[in-house]
Parts: sequence; C-alpha cells; structure tokens
Amino acid sequence: MGRRLRRGALAAVLVVLAAAVVVALVERRGPEAKPLPGTPLRELASQAGLRIGTAVDDTALQREPGYREVLAQQFSSVTAENVMKWGALAAERGRYDFTAADRLVDFALGRGMRVRGHALVWWNQLPTWVRDGEWTRRTLRQEVRQHVRTTLEHFGERVPVWDAVNEPLDDRGRLRDDLLGRVLGDGWVEDVLRTARTYAPEAQLVLNETAADGLNAKSDGMYRLVRGLLARGVPLDGVGFQLHTNLDGVPAGFRRNLERFAALGLDVEVTEADVALRTPASERAERAQARVYAQAVRDCRAVPRCRGFTVWGFTDRHSWIPGTQPGFGEATLLDAELRAKPAFRAVQRALR
Ligand code: XIL
Repeated sequence: MGRRLRRGALAAVLVVLAAAVVVALVERRGPEAKPLPGTPLRELASQAGLRIGTAVDDTALQREPGYREVLAQQFSSVTAENVMKWGALAAERGRYDFTAADRLVDFALGRGMRVRGHALVWWNQLPTWVRDGEWTRRTLRQEVRQHVRTTLEHFGERVPVWDAVNEPLDDRGRLRDDLLGRVLGDGWVEDVLRTARTYAPEAQLVLNETAADGLNAKSDGMYRLVRGLLARGVPLDGVGFQLHTNLDGVPAGFRRNLERFAALGLDVEVTEADVALRTPASERAERAQARVYAQAVRDCRAVPRCRGFTVWGFTDRHSWIPGTQPGFGEATLLDAELRAKPAFRAVQRALR
C-alpha cells in the first residue's frame, strides 16, 4: 500500500514536471504572430520614400517564430540591438565571433531588409580587455583601427550603413571624457571615420547620438563637430538621432534640428526611437504615446533628407527600457503578445 502511494506520488510529480517543461518551452517560443491591422509598415514606409527599421534582439530572433514573422512582415531595416558591438564581437583579444551578427544579416538579407551596422566604436559595451587595458595613444589607436578594419571587411557590402561612431558627446556637447578621448585625443572621431572609409569605401558612415534630438547644448555641440569634420574633408554621410523619449514628447526643435544637419548636405535618420511609459500604463498613456510616435514620424517625413525611422525594439516583450529604467516600460509599438497598440496604428497613419 505504502509503495503504491509512493508510486502514485512519484507519477504526479513527474506529470507536473513534464507540464512545467512544456509550459517553459512554449513560453520560450514566444507568442504566435497574429494578423496586424492595415498595411504593413514597410509598405507604407516605402511609399513614403523611407525605411522603417527596428532593433533586433538576438535571443528572440533565434527562438521566437512569431517575433521573426512580424519582424520580416513589418520592417525594411534592422539594427542589431547588441551583437555587432565591439564587446560582443571580440570578447577575447584577437578572436572575433561573428556568429550572432551573421545570423541577423542572413535573416535580413533573405527577406529583403537592409542592415544598419551598429556600432563600430562606442564608449560603452567595449570588450573588457579594451576597457581595462593599459594603453598608449599608439597601441589603442592600433586596436581601434584593427577593429574597424576587421569588422568592415567581414561584413562587406552586406552592411551598407554603419553607426561608425556612437555617442561621442557629453551632455554639454563636448567630446566625452572617456577612455577613447583621454588616450587618443580629440582626433579619434576623425580617425575612426577615415579608417572606416578606407575599408568600406561604399558604406554610408553615420555619427549616432543620444539626447541630441532637439535643439539643445548637445545638438549644438554635434553641429559644431560635424561642421568641423566636413570642413576638413572627413568622410561622413549622415547623422543618426536616437530619439529615446517618453511622454515629455518629441524634444523641442526636433524638426529644425534635423533640418540644420540636412542643410550641411548630410542624410539624417531616427535610429533608436522608443517612448517609455510608467508601468503599468493606462489606455490614456498609450494614446499619448501614440501621439509622440506619430509626431516623430511626421517630423522625419517633413525633412526630405530624413531617410529612415528605426524603433529600438518593436514589442514590449523585448525592450531595454524596463531593465534600465525601473518603473518604466511598454515603450514600443506592439504589446508583449505582439498585438498592435495605439502607437502602431498612429505610425501607420503618419506614414500614409
Ligand atoms: C542598449 C541595448 O538595448 C541593451 O540591451 C544593452 O544592454 C545596452 O545597450 N544607445 C545605443 C544602443 O546606441 O546601443 C543602446 O542599446 C541603447 C542606447
């Protein structure tokens, strides 16, 4: 009797365990793609003469069929959220691992999407051996050049546009006081751009910046930097505006800011848009969020040289906001179940 009872208990435990494994596997595969309303964003964007892009999370790309389906159906451009950063490509000195980055490039090219390279040189997410290394100007410059070369030669024409330098400035609009600036001196931005042009003569080279979206001290600094670079004949094709925002809205002077860079003869684009909400968000907040997204798209469309609009993730299931801004989230166009939020329809309308 005791033995039978024990067997019964064991069987029950096994059933529960098996069920838990099934639930975990289903969860791992993410939500199914449901039909989204209206015309796909990429079609609307193409009619409007621009690319609509998104950051892509590598884990989701690998595991979640619904994520892949919506990604390919709605977007015409992708940016690697993490896997093309220096620290991700060369965690160990002298050894590159392009597996994850190539996975994204293959996916994108197979579905007629363009890849934005992100980012060749950035103060953040550097390999630890770079960040903690002991460098002289000569040795660090050598490593930076070598990295730019290795990366560009690897991807070649498959990645036609690069955030060559990401976030060079501090809040006051001066070159950041970080490892790169301190060791290499102010000329480092120019050196990266020239090196990039050497190894990718056809690629579009972009300076990408955060919190320089509106007219402010930082974007003024960016403007001075860019004008100086162009005056010296440094290769530069575009400026990227990240546009991470919240219900404060599109920063004041955003459109005029895009216009002044475009007037220098450069392309401009929105590279990382998201609109963070306090969580859990009310319907009212979602509607306000929709208006912010729509405004941003309309401002980009109003500037002929604004060639692309990229969001930093397209589903609340995969967004960097909750992890970096506790209390905030729900910052993207689709909810965690891949259903359209008001912001999705608002972007569709703004693209029409
Ligand atoms: C973020 C990613 O979304 C996170 O997953 C990662 O932990 C940190 O970096 N500006 C950029 C992006 O240029 O590369 C950053 O991406 C967000 C801010």
